[in-house]
Amino acid sequence: MGPARRSVPAALRFLGGLSVPLLLLCPPAAQGDCSLPPEVPNAHPTLSDHDLKSFPEGTTVTYKCNEGFVKVPGKPDSVICLSNNQWSEVAAFCNRSCDVPPRLRFASLKRSFSKQNYFPEGFVVEYDCRPGYRRNQTLSDKLTCLQNFIWSTPDEFCKKKSCPTPGDITHGHVSVTTDISYGASISFSCDTGYRLVGSASSYCSLVDQAVEWSDPLPKCQEIVCPEPQEISNGIIQNPRKTYVYQQSVKYQCNPGFTLIGENSIYCTVKDDLGEWSGLPPECKENSQISKGMPTVQKPSMASVPSTKVPSAPQKTTTVNVPAKQTSAVVPRATTHFRSTSSHKGRGTPSSDANIAAIGHTCITLTVLLMTLVTIG
Ligand SMILES: *[C@@H]1O[C@H](CO)[C@@H](O)[C@H](O)[C@H]1NC(C)=O
Ligand SMILES: *[C@@H]1O[C@H](CO)[C@@H](O)[C@H](O)[C@H]1NC(C)=O
Repeated sequence: MGPARRSVPAALRFLGGLSVPLLLLCPPAAQGDCSLPPEVPNAHPTLSDHDLKSFPEGTTVTYKCNEGFVKVPGKPDSVICLSNNQWSEVAAFCNRSCDVPPRLRFASLKRSFSKQNYFPEGFVVEYDCRPGYRRNQTLSDKLTCLQNFIWSTPDEFCKKKSCPTPGDITHGHVSVTTDISYGASISFSCDTGYRLVGSASSYCSLVDQAVEWSDPLPKCQEIVCPEPQEISNGIIQNPRKTYVYQQSVKYQCNPGFTLIGENSIYCTVKDDLGEWSGLPPECKENSQISKGMPTVQKPSMASVPSTKVPSAPQKTTTVNVPAKQTSAVVPRATTHFRSTSSHKGRGTPSSDANIAAIGHTCITLTVLLMTLVTIG
């Protein structure tokens, strides 16, 4: 440290208690300095150091509006210290204002007001309907900044647009949950026995400023049961090409055979698939049943071995040589087909099978008679 530096604190020490009264008596500002900046209504200067009492020429002081006041656009908000030790003129630039206008669910503030934050008493702002909403011309789309600096209460001047009436589904139903206006959703269902093809729901959505359903109406497609199983030694009465929900198949045994089980089964629906209510019945040869019932037993019948019918279930689709005992048991066809499978060309094969089955019975009977004659 040099001696010049040391001289200032030394001088202050010398003056001692006199230094403080001296500062108060003499103006601290040097020539060309401004004193404290002027008062501005509803505003305060922003000073980096609040203890500053003098400002050199050319200093700029900017003001901030007090709480609850907003700067009026276009009015200056700062002062500069001029060469004459005076601050430049500043007019009141802070005023009471409404808050930013409220955000409305159905409308947006017109663009011209969106960058603004000064809304004095009596100020009017306008709105535009949001996409998907339609203007109700009988209501005002304007809001006013009231005397208490609160915006006037908005009317619901824009209403949701409505989608077209959805219409009806053949063999199905349209459920409107709330309404059919923008944003709403509707759901679809089919009557029992029908499968829904398409969307199960749709919602009213925006399409180029207009509102449209997001999904078209679905189709309700009739569910068909798989082809009913044919039975050995029996026929299906009046067979149909296809069987739909609740339609039944009636089985009948060939003469000389007794039906075991239910004589009819019907088409049911499970998980959108057609399914038979149960297994088809079996046709048991009367002689086989008689075996178990000694009182009705005919002794001659027991001695005919060639007509023994296998008790295991089988699906007869081809004509078997009647006398030959069927040893290879054809497994039962599964009842779980997709009911959408082809409906055509069913009548002919099943009719052929029926004719074949009748033929089978005739030959069997002939063999039986011949055997009886031989024994006799
Ligand atoms: C403040 O707003 C009132 C209306 O509320 C207006 O008459 C007055 O001129 C405004 N003052 C300023 C400084 O803009
Ligand atoms: C428009 O507003 C009036 C007044 O609230 C109301 O009565 C009318 O139903 C509205 N019109 C529409 C289409 O919403």
